Amino acid sequence: MNFTRGGCKTSSRMALLCSLATVQACSGPAAMRVVEETSAAEPVGVAAEPPDGGIVPLPLSTRAGSGRFTIGPDTEIQFTGGSAEVAWIAAHLAEFVPVDAATPRSTRVMPAGTRAAGAITLALDPALTSLGTEGYQLSITPDGLTASAPGPAGLFYAVQTVRQMLPADIEQISSLGRQALAATAIEDRPRFVWRGAMLDVSRHFLGPADVKRFIDMMALYKLNRLHLHLSDDQGWRIEIKSWPNLTARGGSSAVGGGPGGFYTQAQYADLVAYAAQRFITVVPEIDMPGHTNAALASYAELNCDGRARPLYTGMRVGFSSLCTTTESTYRFVDDVVREISALTPGPWFHIGGDEVKTLSAPSYAAFVERAQTIVRSHGKQMIGWDEIAGAALHPTTIVQYWRPNATARDAIRQGSSLILSPANKVYLDMKYSPATSLGLRWAGYVTVRTAYEWDPARLLAGASEASILGIEAPLWSETLVTLDDYEYMAFPRLAAVAEAAWSPQSERRWEDFRARLATHGARWSAMGINYYRSEEIPWR
Ligand code: ACM
Repeated sequence: MNFTRGGCKTSSRMALLCSLATVQACSGPAAMRVVEETSAAEPVGVAAEPPDGGIVPLPLSTRAGSGRFTIGPDTEIQFTGGSAEVAWIAAHLAEFVPVDAATPRSTRVMPAGTRAAGAITLALDPALTSLGTEGYQLSITPDGLTASAPGPAGLFYAVQTVRQMLPADIEQISSLGRQALAATAIEDRPRFVWRGAMLDVSRHFLGPADVKRFIDMMALYKLNRLHLHLSDDQGWRIEIKSWPNLTARGGSSAVGGGPGGFYTQAQYADLVAYAAQRFITVVPEIDMPGHTNAALASYAELNCDGRARPLYTGMRVGFSSLCTTTESTYRFVDDVVREISALTPGPWFHIGGDEVKTLSAPSYAAFVERAQTIVRSHGKQMIGWDEIAGAALHPTTIVQYWRPNATARDAIRQGSSLILSPANKVYLDMKYSPATSLGLRWAGYVTVRTAYEWDPARLLAGASEASILGIEAPLWSETLVTLDDYEYMAFPRLAAVAEAAWSPQSERRWEDFRARLATHGARWSAMGINYYRSEEIPWR
């Protein structure tokens, strides 16, 4: 293969932006070189072919055809369905298709019927109901590539599949030569509706640009829920206009004494919209009644003794609680839930509820039940960590399992659906091995294989497939400071979790997965992702 290298120096993402029709927005000679050095006469590259095309998560079914489809600078991308959403998905696919100087990406994307049939077609087809709301079909023949789906999410996931079939360098090099894709027919849909990751932006703060980069990575693996842990003992991270000290004071700290930080409401709304465009719903969490020292330091009235607490920068848990017997606490909860809910189109609000060691069981349950009423009054469905199952729950309340020894009995008895986040399998802040310098080890070491090789339907006695919404991998940040740190702990394990959430259990095999995952290291390198080069994976 003969790659033409070039692009903005700032980041691989910027290089991609340079390659769009907005090339003039990228200043400097590096940006221009992308355009000038590209030639449609370059040789055709044939992507290496690991099992099942190296696609993660593994599609439901893949059938090899005969021949190849060549994709290059003259390839047009057409879409049917006409919506702005589908047009955006087509433009997103265009980011990963080779360009030349004469044909900017944007001019190759057009509604169907505008010109002669395009070689790539994205087609909304409401009749494909058997694929569910997120499934898709992909047909690649020597004559073209067609992605069909009953809804836009499926088309977006089809594009992620195509992206993974193209060489890793497309993530970085906007002017890659012509590429041949093996003829293939794929039919795909997810096992679970909840395929999530959680970022703890409280112990250390992660700015909006870093969260967007993480969202981009989630999208590549067809994850669809981003749970933001927005408050904890060490920091309050979202502007609440009716309680401004929460960020003025509570946002000013972090584990180890760093400067903290917070999202303005406008920044949070922008993150929510950015995620939504990639079919990811943001789930906000304000942890209560425990894990609240940042709030207790910001407002004296939230403490039963009326005295504000000092800021906390350590790593202990379980010592803090809102005062559950005063009305000012419930006014506070109502205001916080109301303001955040108004910024959050998704249907969920997470109240935390974990690790409260200073309240009696009845006081804790009474608090959770009142918080549940408040959340419902603002039109949201409540989620809480598994401790909330001891309270009286509304059947729409969702219980998130994290403690490896917890039982699901109380949640199932109350008709709750479950999100599975077993700490000893999918806590991405657990060390990979004794040699991992970042992370914690209280739930044991979590290897890539540990994160991969388990069946959600067999995790909790009494919790059948029907009661399980899906899986979510939390990334707690006591020891993580930079985005590099987060990436190191997330990759490759987040890809393993994504496959556990998407692909049928009967088709999942560790040996097959590690062979497919092996091709992803080069892609992560091209994207500038600081992944852990686990010895479990035969990296290519
Ligand atoms: C948790 O890890 N305390 C939910």
